[in-house]
Amino acid sequence: GCRREWIAVDGPAGAGKSSLARALAKALGYRYIDTGATYRAAALAVLQAGVHPGDPASRSRIVDIVRRVRIRLGTDPRVDLPSRVFLDGRDVSTSIRSLEVGQAASTIATIPEVRRVLAELQRRMAEEGPCVMDGRDIGTVVLKEACVKLYVTASLEERARRRAKELQEIEGQVPVSLEEIEEQLAMRDQQDATRQDAPLRAAEDAVTLDTTGQTPGEVLERALAICRECLGDGG
Ligand code: CDP
Ligand code: CDP
Repeated sequence: GCRREWIAVDGPAGAGKSSLARALAKALGYRYIDTGATYRAAALAVLQAGVHPGDPASRSRIVDIVRRVRIRLGTDPRVDLPSRVFLDGRDVSTSIRSLEVGQAASTIATIPEVRRVLAELQRRMAEEGPCVMDGRDIGTVVLKEACVKLYVTASLEERARRRAKELQEIEGQVPVSLEEIEEQLAMRDQQDATRQDAPLRAAEDAVTLDTTGQTPGEVLERALAICRECLGDGG
């Protein structure tokens, strides 16, 4: 059956998933679960262990690290801004936002055993109560039973511009050009959309929202209208 207490938000990097998912959660009184943060935290653990995320010879070590680390997310959309993320009890909310960690996250996310471990964690969190969850495979795999599924997109240029602005605000992030960010996003989208296990794609029953040229407020209004329509009870 369909789970009314779950809302799935998927889409490529920088499309506006997390701002929309957080705003929706706030408006509806749900929790916000950032699954990208679980991949980023796992990737940070791999990098900090000195293991190369893309080295095929290190796969079993990577899976081992991901199985052993404790990842905890803050899920209150009113206070956890950006998502509070804890790796073995340490607050890594800011350090997981670098370009390097994003790329490493996408690389370890191609390993099926890594996906299995993190999807189980995500699913357990969703079972704790109503939530809006965002990522790449939420509507297709993790919360397939969600009643409302949104697929958020925006042009590559706009996504790169948004990400550039965000990166500027991260302390210790080496300045990168807009071209380089665009290139990295395109690479990551390609890697995410072409992997064998749970590739990035819109679920058949998802509604697509193109956010190019739209403010977060406008996107939220459209999404709330879709939620009301899907849930069909005016609320
Ligand atoms: O989660 P995802 O990578 O899909 O994107 P995000 O973190 O929600 O959005 C990336 C950046 O774009 C954030 O700084 C947002 O404030 C901004 N944004 C925007 O300017 N207009 C929107 N309609 C959505 C997000
Ligand atoms: O915020 P942004 O859109 O840049 O990325 P993210 O949501 O933090 O996710 C980082 C990486 O984790 C993505 O490029 C994906 O490769 C992976 N990921 C995934 O495979 N499945 C998810 N449900 C969420 C993230």
